[in-house]
Amino acid sequence: MDSRIDSWRELLNLKPSGTPAAARGAQRTPEARGAGRADNGASVDSLRLRYTRIRARTLQLAAPLSDEDCGAQSMPDASPVKWHLAHTTWFFETFVLERFERRFAPYNRAFRMLFNSYYDAVGARPLRPERGLLTRPGAAEVRAYRRNVDARILALLKLHDTGAPARDLILLGLHHEQQHQELILTDVKHLLSRNPMRPAYRKPEPDLPAASADVAAAPLLAPLTWVECDGGNVQVGHDGAGFAFDNETPRHVAYLEPYRLASRLVTNAEFLAFVEDGGYRDPRWWLAEGWDWILAQRLAHPLYWHRDADGAWSEFTLGGSVPLDPNLAAVHLSYYEADAYARWADARLPTEAEWEHAAAGFRPQGNLADANRLHPRIACGAGLQQLFGDAWEWTSSSYAPYPGFKPAPGAVGEYNGKFMVNQYVLRGGSCATPADHVRASYRNFFPAHARWQFSGIRLARDAGSSDASPAA
Ligand SMILES: [Fe+2]
Repeated sequence: MDSRIDSWRELLNLKPSGTPAAARGAQRTPEARGAGRADNGASVDSLRLRYTRIRARTLQLAAPLSDEDCGAQSMPDASPVKWHLAHTTWFFETFVLERFERRFAPYNRAFRMLFNSYYDAVGARPLRPERGLLTRPGAAEVRAYRRNVDARILALLKLHDTGAPARDLILLGLHHEQQHQELILTDVKHLLSRNPMRPAYRKPEPDLPAASADVAAAPLLAPLTWVECDGGNVQVGHDGAGFAFDNETPRHVAYLEPYRLASRLVTNAEFLAFVEDGGYRDPRWWLAEGWDWILAQRLAHPLYWHRDADGAWSEFTLGGSVPLDPNLAAVHLSYYEADAYARWADARLPTEAEWEHAAAGFRPQGNLADANRLHPRIACGAGLQQLFGDAWEWTSSSYAPYPGFKPAPGAVGEYNGKFMVNQYVLRGGSCATPADHVRASYRNFFPAHARWQFSGIRLARDAGSSDASPAA
C-alpha cells in the first residue's frame, strides 16, 4: 500500500460524538482511509480561492429558489436544497474543523446528527426520505451556518502551519460539494416537474427550442458513426495526477476485445423511434427486472417527456417545458431503459473499461455545468463527440471494487466503498457536472432504476459488427 494511503489512515479518524476537542489528539489511532487522493499538494492560497469559488457557486445555484422551494423533498432519492446547503457545510465542520480547529466548538451540537447523510462512524441521522420534514432550522439559519463554517475554514487556511492532511480533507470536501451541486440541480428539476404548473428553475437558454426561431442557423447534428477501438491489455483507473476518489484506484490492467463505440450519444429522435416502435410494450428488449419495473410503474417514455393533447412531445427542463428537440441527447433514462434501447438497436452498452480506454486521450471538456446551459446541446463534428458533458453514460459494468481496492474502516472511508453493490457505473459527466470535477477515470454510480440524473446512452458494438445506424 502506498505511503499516501497510509497517511490518509491517520488523517481521517473522527472523534466520537461529544468528545471534548482537547482530548482528541490522544485518541488518534490509524483506522480510516480517505475517499479521495490528494491534489498533489494544492497550495494554501490556491485552495482558499478554490474554496471561496466553489462555496459561492453552491449559493448561486440556490439563488433562483424561494425558501419554500429549498425546503421541499419530492421523493426519497432527492433531498431538499436546504439540506444540501447544510450537509455540505456539515462535511467541513465534521471532517475538517473537528479535527484541526484549535479550540473547536460546534456551531450547533444538533447539526452533527441532523445533517449526517450516511456515515455510521459519525452516528445517528434522520431517515433520508424524511429530510423534507426538517423545517427547523430554517433557511436563514442554514445560511448563517454556512457563513460561520466558511469563516472558520478560511481562518484555518490562513494559518502558516496548515498541513497537507487538513488541505487534503478540504479538497475532498470541495469535490464532495461539487457532487452536491449537481444533485441540487437534478433534485430541483424533479421537484419542479411535480408541480402541475411546471415552473422553470430559470429562464430557458436562448438556443433551447422554446426560443429558437432561426432554424436555418441551427447547427447540424453529426451523423452517428462507429469508431473502431483497439483491444488488448489496457490501463484502467486514475493515473495519479491530481485529485481522484478512492474508487478510481488502484490503476490496473484490463483486457479488452476490439470494439466499436458510437460517435455520439443517442438522440431524442432515435429514442422516440424506440418508443413509437412499441419498445415499452415489448418484453424482448428488457431485462426481467426492468420489464417488471416498467409494468409496475406503468412507464411508456423517459422521465420528463410529456405527450401533449395534439400528439406533440414536450420535455421538462430546468427552463420549463419545451418542445422535444429531436437532435439533443436523450436524458433521464434508467439503466433498464438504456439497456433495452441498446438491444432494440442491435447494440449494447459499453463496459466502463471500454469507455475509459476510449476517453483517456481526451481533455475533460464539453457541455458541462460551467457552460451554464444545464441541458444537452447538439453533437457536431467528426470522431468521438460528447464524451464529457451533456449526459452521464450508462455502462454495463456493475459498480465494484477495482482489484486491490480495500475499503477502510472509519468515517470518510464510508464515502464510496460501502455502496459497491446493486449499482451500475456511469461515465463522462453531464451538463450539470462542474467542469473541474470530472475526468476519464471518474466513476459515478446509481441503481438500475434511477433516472432523475442527466443519464443517457452511448452505444457500443463488438468489432466486425454491422455499420447500420440504430435510427436507420
Ligand atoms: Fe454528501
